Amino acid sequence: MNDMKELLQGILADALDQLKADDAQPDQIRVRFLGKKGDLTAVLRGMGSLSPEERPAIGQLANEVRTQIENAIEKRQTELNDKKLKSKLLAERVDVTVPGEEFAVGHQHPLTLVRRELEDIFLGLGFSIAEGPEVEYDYYNFQALNIPENHPARDTQDTFYITDKILLRSQTSPVQARVMEKQKPPIRIISPGRVYRSDDVDATHSPLFHQFEGLVVDKGITMGDLKGVLELFAKTMFGEETRIRFRPHHFPFTEPSAEVDVSCFACGGKGCRFCKGEGWIEILGAGMVHPKVLSGCGIDPREYSGFAFGLGIERIALLKYHIDDMRLLYENDMRFLGQF
Ligand code: PHE
Repeated sequence: MNDMKELLQGILADALDQLKADDAQPDQIRVRFLGKKGDLTAVLRGMGSLSPEERPAIGQLANEVRTQIENAIEKRQTELNDKKLKSKLLAERVDVTVPGEEFAVGHQHPLTLVRRELEDIFLGLGFSIAEGPEVEYDYYNFQALNIPENHPARDTQDTFYITDKILLRSQTSPVQARVMEKQKPPIRIISPGRVYRSDDVDATHSPLFHQFEGLVVDKGITMGDLKGVLELFAKTMFGEETRIRFRPHHFPFTEPSAEVDVSCFACGGKGCRFCKGEGWIEILGAGMVHPKVLSGCGIDPREYSGFAFGLGIERIALLKYHIDDMRLLYENDMRFLGQF
């Protein structure tokens, strides 16, 4: 019986010893000591040779040994798992203080910025956006706007012809005619877009540029409405202290017509280098929609009246950002574009 006790104690000591090893494998140890063919099981099998009086004591001891080995295995397993997790976490550690990789964020072109700003102002006033084709009929670009063939106004708007009747639009005004043909008053639209003219490239000209058109047609629209809208636009765009000035002008599709200036936002109107001593800067053309244009589009001029205006987006961008050469807007030079 003492032999068996020693045997059991030996097994316990062995098991605990093996569990201590750095590379201990608790699962294998469990099999080796507690498994069906394990050491402890072998001892229990040998209990048959003990006397009935001896058996309970040895049985109890054997159970205690089993429990101790089981507990030790469990404890060691947890220890080893923790250790493994710790070293894994250590290996996978991310240093969140390392500076991130920078990547270049794109941004809007100055022409887009100005167009969006213009759109915001007029959308806020209840206008909606209308678009028209860049490849346009002679009819909408000229004839519907009271510019018949051989009219001298065609000279200043020479453009690129696809055929005799089809051209690249020289202004956004054809959108006016297209909208009036389809839509009955009240009409309140703006129309931004590309236009083309047969001009040589220089600091203030380009064969491709952008315009922004506005059109309002309703009962009882007067030049006072035009003035009010343009004044509000000028103040929003160039600053609260901005004033506007109408100078008589001629456009075939408006009557009366005006060129509209804003007080110089650099000197406030005193005259400076920026406004070339004028105190005023020309920014757009405008007028009351010609009765012939209204009736040509199926709107009765005795019932309705309207105003229209058109401006060059490039011109506003040059003024707003103090850019002295229009070509910069098209050259895609990041040193320039990165400044906006
Ligand atoms: N379309 C004219 C131009 O290009 C500008 C304009 C638009 C004038 C609307 C009056 C009314 O010169």
